[in-house]
Amino acid sequence: MKQTIGSILKAKNNRKLTMITAYDALFARLFDGKADLILVGDSLNMSFAGEKDTLSATIEQMIYHTNAVCNGARNTFIICDMPFGTYTDEKIALENAIKVFRETGADAVKIEGGRSKAHIIKTLCDNSIAVVGHIGLLPQNFRSEGGYKVKGKDEENIKSLIEDAKAVESAGAFCIVVEGVKEEAGEAIAKAVNVPVIGIGAGVKVDGQVLVWSDMLGFFDEFTPKFVRKYLDGATLVKNAVESYKNDVENQNFPNENEKY
Ligand code: KIV
Repeated sequence: MKQTIGSILKAKNNRKLTMITAYDALFARLFDGKADLILVGDSLNMSFAGEKDTLSATIEQMIYHTNAVCNGARNTFIICDMPFGTYTDEKIALENAIKVFRETGADAVKIEGGRSKAHIIKTLCDNSIAVVGHIGLLPQNFRSEGGYKVKGKDEENIKSLIEDAKAVESAGAFCIVVEGVKEEAGEAIAKAVNVPVIGIGAGVKVDGQVLVWSDMLGFFDEFTPKFVRKYLDGATLVKNAVESYKNDVENQNFPNENEKY
């Protein structure tokens, strides 16, 4: 059964939530009804479009991919990531989020940032747009911070992350993604708020996990972040399959008697 904001909130302290990214209908169909939530992440700019960071993703691309995912996963709660530069103030954020809600079947949008984005989250929630927060390591800060920096390494930073989580919750977010933090920080954040905290590289003591599908299924083989578990060696399977196909074509083993008109 498709999750709702109510059932997602109820999961807190009762069961762990599973979130996975998807960018197209083909894979979304395979994940449909298996994961609780599908995130159309702006990570698609890296794993799908081959860019080196997420920053050049546009709202039009996110809408295109969100529609594809909605077509494939009709029984799953779908979240569309708001890309870099599309929520710089309340007006711009509202225009872009309304565009996402009007032009796709997304159930919610996700916004990176803690206290500094609370006013934006509130504006969207006040206008009937459901919001997932995203705190900790923020991929959209990749250039401004000079790389991906793990957070929550000391007491002071953990306190600051807790303040971020509380601000995002008070602004109306029904769920918070926390990325790239020490496990103690993930645990402290999850304990500090009443909404589910979904971790990625945040240890096990949170309310659920999210992974990028192409990392988790091993299709992205350029590098594997420390926090990723590969549940399939997709890259090897695909490469071997294409090699077999090429061999069969060259040896005229494909097509055979049953594979022709
Ligand atoms: O874009 C994305 O895939 C994300 C996840 C890493 C949470 O934001």
